[in-house]
Amino acid sequence: MFTKQIAPAVAVLGMAIGATAFTCKDDTITITSASDASTLAACETATGDVVISTEAGSTVDFSGSLTKIEGALTVENNGGIVSLSCSSLETIGGAFTLKNVTLLSTLSFTSLTSVGSIAWSSLNALGSLTFGDPGVTSADSVVISDTFLSTLDGIDVQSLTDMDINNNRYLTDFTSSLSNLSGVFNVNANGQKLSLTLPNLIWIANMTISNVTEFSAQSLAAVNGSMSFDANYFTTFSAPNLTTVGGALSFIGNSEVTNITMPVTSIGGGFTIVNNTALTELNGFPDLKTVGGEVLLRGNFDEVTLPSLSDVRGAFDLSSTGDISSSCTAFDKLSPSQGAEIQGSYHCTSNNANANNDTSSEGTSDSGTNSTKNAAMPSASGMGMSYMVSLVAIAGFVTVFL
Ligand SMILES: *[C@@H]1O[C@H](CO)[C@@H](O)[C@H](O)[C@H]1NC(C)=O
Ligand SMILES: *[C@@H]1O[C@H](CO)[C@@H](O)[C@H](O)[C@H]1NC(C)=O
Ligand SMILES: *[C@@H]1O[C@H](CO)[C@@H](O)[C@H](O)[C@H]1NC(C)=O
Ligand SMILES: *[C@@H]1O[C@H](CO)[C@@H](O)[C@H](O)[C@H]1NC(C)=O
Ligand SMILES: *[C@@H]1O[C@H](CO)[C@@H](O)[C@H](O)[C@H]1NC(C)=O
Ligand SMILES: *[C@@H]1O[C@H](CO)[C@@H](O)[C@H](O)[C@H]1NC(C)=O
Ligand SMILES: *[C@@H]1O[C@H](CO)[C@@H](O)[C@H](O)[C@H]1NC(C)=O
Ligand SMILES: *[C@@H]1O[C@H](CO)[C@@H](O)[C@H](O)[C@H]1NC(C)=O
Ligand SMILES: *[C@@H]1O[C@H](CO)[C@@H](O)[C@H](O)[C@H]1NC(C)=O
Ligand SMILES: *[C@@H]1O[C@H](CO)[C@@H](O)[C@H](O)[C@H]1NC(C)=O
Repeated sequence: MFTKQIAPAVAVLGMAIGATAFTCKDDTITITSASDASTLAACETATGDVVISTEAGSTVDFSGSLTKIEGALTVENNGGIVSLSCSSLETIGGAFTLKNVTLLSTLSFTSLTSVGSIAWSSLNALGSLTFGDPGVTSADSVVISDTFLSTLDGIDVQSLTDMDINNNRYLTDFTSSLSNLSGVFNVNANGQKLSLTLPNLIWIANMTISNVTEFSAQSLAAVNGSMSFDANYFTTFSAPNLTTVGGALSFIGNSEVTNITMPVTSIGGGFTIVNNTALTELNGFPDLKTVGGEVLLRGNFDEVTLPSLSDVRGAFDLSSTGDISSSCTAFDKLSPSQGAEIQGSYHCTSNNANANNDTSSEGTSDSGTNSTKNAAMPSASGMGMSYMVSLVAIAGFVTVFL
């Protein structure tokens, strides 16, 4: 019956039940019954992958001696399982995948601290996790999509490659001790009241944050790649320690924000602030000196000041529905025809009714009643392009994780 080595206790248990079809060392252990779960529970380590099949029943518990699954743990396209638990399991070496498991309402892994990755999607009945405190603290990648979770308590990883939290409609609080992240952090389309709090975050490679009501990252000092905030509901944005953004920085369509403040001195890519309709004063970038890409600022501004700006490698396009003529007077001095701190084409436009909704550079030039332009540098690389690039970049991130 047993062709491979197996712990005697397991053999005895297996034989007693009389249905064991696997050993702890199989490449893939497929759980199809309660007795399979008991056999798995008696292993200390499962060296391969564990798959929970649809035949396993509505309650699957493999608590026992099992502390480690070296491979992956997978439940997929399973509309029968309601409860999955293992109180002894500490480590999953591979991916912990739960995908399209629509009735799962209890997920209990109270000793689990380390997983290779978390890949959870379409868990329509999962409202909370029964994990330890702090729970999972080590993972390379975490993707949690389309669940009913209202918090992510039980997952608290400090350093990882990627994290994507999207379409969790009941998620209202996400507080994480995340310290650094080397790939992409995406938070999008979760609960309308989502408060995102990252008190220990020091550096992050890239982040795209949408639809959050509060955002806080008091210690964030560096964004190595790009950071974008689109369609959020926060009223103020402050990153009090953020001095460098290696790639692009963008805020698009955050309809309630009235104050964006950060001590950033350099932005490696484009600097985009567009269609944040409540933002009338843009003066929260007192230290910004260098922008490696294009500066694109369009909105209902009364005043825009960037007092330290001294090096813009791309175009500069500032346009407002209001009168910003005194702001424009200051920026004119940096234009290619004057101080030449701005290397690309230059536009500064007041009273442009389409400042928020017009995404073509031609519109900028024609509709303002008082525009200052550098005719020598046509606006070929104007706003439409940058806006598109930004949207494409965001779409790219989302695609990667869906
Ligand atoms: C989800 O799982 C159910 C079985 O529970 C299956 O019928 C359905 O096709 C799956 N959906 C997708 C999108 O794979
Ligand atoms: C990332 O954060 C972890 C946890 O705080 C820390 O141990 C590690 O040194 C950090 N890595 C870098 C490169 O900053
Ligand atoms: C990001 O920048 C920080 C601070 O400059 C640095 O410590 C970290 O190693 C950088 N991370 C990556 C992935 O480049
Ligand atoms: C969520 O953000 C996206 C942009 O990433 C936006 O298209 C969408 O309309 C937002 N949803 C809501 C409900 O605000
Ligand atoms: C902000 O940065 C300074 C200097 O790097 C550091 O001493 C301070 O602790 C940081 N503040 C926070 C809230 O992390
Ligand atoms: C994120 O940022 C880094 C810079 O730290 C960059 O090299 C990388 O291409 C960016 N994108 C992804 C998907 O990681
Ligand atoms: C904007 O926010 C910053 C930081 O929170 C604060 O210091 C500043 O006074 C605010 N500005 C306005 C006009 O409210
Ligand atoms: C138009 O531009 C001129 C010269 O730059 C300036 O004096 C005037 O205040 C501007 N008017 C408006 C409404 O922006
Ligand atoms: C932009 O919005 C204004 C005010 O709502 C409207 O009158 C105008 O037609 C819009 N323009 C475009 C190009 O959508
Ligand atoms: C600008 O933001 C408003 C919401 O504040 C939205 O209705 C509108 O579609 C946005 N315009 C563009 C061009 O994205």
